[in-house]
Amino acid sequence: MPKKPWTPESWRAFPVQQMPAYADAEALARTEKRLAGFPPLVFAGEARKLKKKLARVAEGRGFLLQGGDCAESFAEHSADNIRDFFRVFLQMAVVLTFAGGQPVVKVGRIAGQFAKPRSSPTETIDGVEYPIYRGDIVNDSAATMDGRKPDPERQIMAYRQSAATMNLLRAFAQGGYANLENVHRWTMGFLKDSPAFERYQELADRISETLGFMKACGITADSAPQLRVTDFFTSHEALLLGFEQALTRVDSTSGDWYATSGHMLWIGDRTRQLDHAHVEFCRGIKNPIGLKCGPSLKADELIKLIDLLNPDNEAGRLTLIARFGADKVDKHLPDLVRAVKREGRVVVWSCDPMHGNTIKSTSGYKTRPFDSILAEVRRFMAVHRAEGTHAGGIHVEMTGKDVTECTGGLRALRDEDLNDRYHTFCDPRLNATQALELSFLLAEEIKKEMASRPPIDDEEVEAAE
Ligand code: TRP
Ligand code: MN
Repeated sequence: MPKKPWTPESWRAFPVQQMPAYADAEALARTEKRLAGFPPLVFAGEARKLKKKLARVAEGRGFLLQGGDCAESFAEHSADNIRDFFRVFLQMAVVLTFAGGQPVVKVGRIAGQFAKPRSSPTETIDGVEYPIYRGDIVNDSAATMDGRKPDPERQIMAYRQSAATMNLLRAFAQGGYANLENVHRWTMGFLKDSPAFERYQELADRISETLGFMKACGITADSAPQLRVTDFFTSHEALLLGFEQALTRVDSTSGDWYATSGHMLWIGDRTRQLDHAHVEFCRGIKNPIGLKCGPSLKADELIKLIDLLNPDNEAGRLTLIARFGADKVDKHLPDLVRAVKREGRVVVWSCDPMHGNTIKSTSGYKTRPFDSILAEVRRFMAVHRAEGTHAGGIHVEMTGKDVTECTGGLRALRDEDLNDRYHTFCDPRLNATQALELSFLLAEEIKKEMASRPPIDDEEVEAAE
């Protein structure tokens, strides 16, 4: 493939999937111009810091926890929502950090996760054909002709919401809310109130003991700032390329281009064609990049994608996010893992156990059985154990609220319960309880990997911040 020089707009010359059809091209161009003058949401230096942390994960010295809403919405933009998400997310991180004895890199699907790829450009409701909902950054989820028209102004609203969300998250992460002792206290309180969770008590007790030991040695959140603060990063799918381009800036210290809409961007399974616009855009920005890998991805195609997206084989640049479905992991993942290993490519392997496990429940709701989600995670971990590679992370759709969108879990949510609090704007998410439960079960898998591999000389292991 003859490669022309990359620019932030070079993607425009390539075929492109999943782009909304804006009726007024001039209005769109005006909006993009305004966005291009707005301040960046994140700094290049932060993206570089994340890349360094992911490089550690790629070497087998850490674990990536990535999670958040399937789609953020304008309607549900509140401090409570952000806080509740962040609370469970941190609880999960503590459990995983303890299980692996290694830093957990914390990346939210948040502060920019607004645009959705869809399988069909329209939908028919009561005999009327409407343009499909493509996320709040594009159009309205309510099915009216007017609301479904792609509106450029929504990009400005998404930008402003992302800035406000980011601001609160930065305050939470650095201002004391992420205090390890508090986070663990929440988990203990939660377990006490949920007899069904007895199975997880032992691990939690060991964390308590460890914190008590550290305290006796004089290491507390007061004396050690590492226990009080955490590094939290943002990510979203790089789908709406005009928006991404407008927020792509030259970093003055390195002269490189960075997307400043979030720290990490990923390419969806539907837009990863080698010679299309999304891959072209992503190859030129220096942020850490994710690539969703679904059942249709062949090993040789994956290697070509890696050639394009990470030609220098830079550790931390590329995270491969496997999303096959519980019963397809064994068929597809080993080939990809072997090819990457054979070619000597350095990547983070992460598992998205959500998108391959969506079914329609008997009650008519789109749902995901907790058992399938857990089964995909376990198969993923087992394949990596068998191949001697590092199962580096997990990518989940979750919320801090007590929604009823995925069935199962220890509280055994049934099909009939889905109607109670089914709030998602897109795919079904793990609720707070299910998310925390998944992290305890994942902890058991992480310990298996640790037990089955040769110890890494940990002289160089850097603690998380
Ligand atoms: N700073 C460390 C880290 O991020 C420890 C820590 C503090 C932590 N607060 C936390 C870990 C909350 C997980 C969750 O790893
Ligand atoms: Mn989704």
